[in-house]
Amino acid sequence: MIEPAVTLFTADEVREGVRRLAQEVRTAHPDDVVLVAVLKGSLPFLADLVRAMAGEAAVDFLAISSYAAGTGRVRLVKDLDLDVRDRPVVLVEDIVDTGLTLGYLLGELGRREPASLSVCTLFDRVARRILPVSLDHVGFEVPDEFLLGYGLDYAGRYRNLPSVAAGDLEVLRVDPDAYVEQLYGSAAGE
Ligand code: PRP
Repeated sequence: MIEPAVTLFTADEVREGVRRLAQEVRTAHPDDVVLVAVLKGSLPFLADLVRAMAGEAAVDFLAISSYAAGTGRVRLVKDLDLDVRDRPVVLVEDIVDTGLTLGYLLGELGRREPASLSVCTLFDRVARRILPVSLDHVGFEVPDEFLLGYGLDYAGRYRNLPSVAAGDLEVLRVDPDAYVEQLYGSAAGE
């Protein structure tokens, strides 16, 4: 019998955090904004964030891939479709850990000379930070635990949960589906 995963944020708490961030971003950018999300984990957050915003907001996507595992070096495998020069850009992340991904992406986006460049992350796992990065809009600080749900995955699983839970990485390594029954059960996320 394994220890159950522990719910950190219910679906309602996530929804409330997203609503607050949408208001913050709109207030900071009342006229025009391009929300740039990083695939894949940011997808649920972006979808809810943009729908919670009043008025128009453009969306675009980046995808990155590590080309040397463990070095922290990455490359773009999907670039923006929009020209963001002279437009306000908000980089949307589900979680910031080491900050290395963000550091790389801010460099990439900055070269396109947006009118402004800021960061909106739902979760900040500040205990793992290596590169100091400035975060403009933060939903929740989270403990140094392995998180599942609302975009956060283990081996591609659990991303579509509406709530966020902390699981045991050792348990998941043995059985990636270890928490499926618990977290996708009828009461999960209520
Ligand atoms: C996660 C997250 C960030 C990055 C943060 O993506 O979405 O992009 O890690 O980590 P860092 O601060 O240590 O660089 P992940 O690599 O898990 O890819 P995914 O979103 O496709 O799951």
